Amino acid sequence: MSEREQWSSKLGFILAAAGSAIGLGAIWKFPYIAGQNGGGAFFLLFILFTLLLGLPLLLAEFVIGRTAQDNAVQAYKKIAPGTNWHWVGVLGMITSFVLLSFYAVIGGWILIYLFKAISGQLDGLTSEEFAVVFSNTIADPLLSVGFQLIFMLLTIIVVSRGIQKGIESASRFMMPALFLLFIILVIRAVTLEGALEGIQFILQPDFSKVTSQTLLEAMGQSFFTLSVGVSVMVTYSSYLPKNQSLPHAAVSIVSMNIFIVLLAGLAIFPAVFAYDLEPNAGPVLLFNVLPTVFNQLPFGMLFFIAFLILFLFAALTSAFSLLEIIISVISNGKPEHRIKWSWIIGLAIFILGVPSALSFGILSDVQIFGKSIFDFADYTVSNVLLPFGALLISIFVPLKMKRSLLYSEIKKGNWIKKGIFDAWYFTIRFIAPPLIILVMMDVLGIW
Ligand code: PHE
Repeated sequence: MSEREQWSSKLGFILAAAGSAIGLGAIWKFPYIAGQNGGGAFFLLFILFTLLLGLPLLLAEFVIGRTAQDNAVQAYKKIAPGTNWHWVGVLGMITSFVLLSFYAVIGGWILIYLFKAISGQLDGLTSEEFAVVFSNTIADPLLSVGFQLIFMLLTIIVVSRGIQKGIESASRFMMPALFLLFIILVIRAVTLEGALEGIQFILQPDFSKVTSQTLLEAMGQSFFTLSVGVSVMVTYSSYLPKNQSLPHAAVSIVSMNIFIVLLAGLAIFPAVFAYDLEPNAGPVLLFNVLPTVFNQLPFGMLFFIAFLILFLFAALTSAFSLLEIIISVISNGKPEHRIKWSWIIGLAIFILGVPSALSFGILSDVQIFGKSIFDFADYTVSNVLLPFGALLISIFVPLKMKRSLLYSEIKKGNWIKKGIFDAWYFTIRFIAPPLIILVMMDVLGIW
């Protein structure tokens, strides 16, 4: 155990865990799913699920990881030896595998825009022209698969070099910079003519639009953005020294996440309405809207390039965590295996993602249960695998870990009120499992 790597500081851990959480989920996925689900009511439900389920589950994963100080599969084996609970870790690995396969496609889109913006190909285009350029680009099989591959290569290279060197250092200044740029973007977006309708769209709940499907998507979205349900956070907190406060880390990550989701909503929707674009455009929404807003800023293209670099970084830090959870299990702490397996698994993930990348072009006619390949992969991960993983974790913690042990783990590094611990324990034990089952069942039409 003494050879296990640890984060060099508490900030290092929070930055890396926040880096895993903040990514495409908050910036790209949230606006388009909210756009498809009527806006404000979805946003509110997302916040509720984040606070009621996401936050307690995040803390639960932290507790498992730091108690066991081991990877996502071994952690369950250590806490519940001789049982089948380690399959929760295996499920997390499979989910991460599929998630990263389509995640890298969007990562590739960011790279495509980055190259286009840097080479001046986007200068002076109107919003319709942006949309055309973009849909032509992602329909091109070589370009989309090529950039998806580049994104995966970047991920593989960093993960193969080990967690500390790879992930921790750059987060320190990239995250704050991303926040800052987002704030500038929001100020521009909300002061556009006709922005009010967009602000209302995302902030004024219209519950007539809420269906059981909306509930499921809001729950799935809250797990997705917090990286909860796949044991990624179990893995990350296993590198954390004992004297750091887990609740503090969980609360800061959740607040940052909600803040960035709000910024993303306020950057996108005012512009969507101001320019008469479609809020339910799907996965391309952000990519069609953003350049138009940046074009309205002085030195817009420069800002856009800076934004894309930070956005890419946010996506990469999430991608690292997804590959890291798999590699940490397979290489089992041996650095010589880490490099080999990072390449093997990383390239396998790339291959699995190729059909998703092509589903915006030559495979666009292929449908699985009425969805494109990309949408099917995304939907299965967000609304089936993540909730299922989260459900199992919420059953595991109160069942297999002693209450007194949980309390002592949670209060390490910081004094917390017993009442807060009790509330958390109650939520994990009595609220999370039935609520997750209910939301999932309702959609399956089981009752
Ligand atoms: N939270 C990440 C995002 O929002 C995605 C992710 C999910 C990463 C699950 C790790 C585990 O982009």
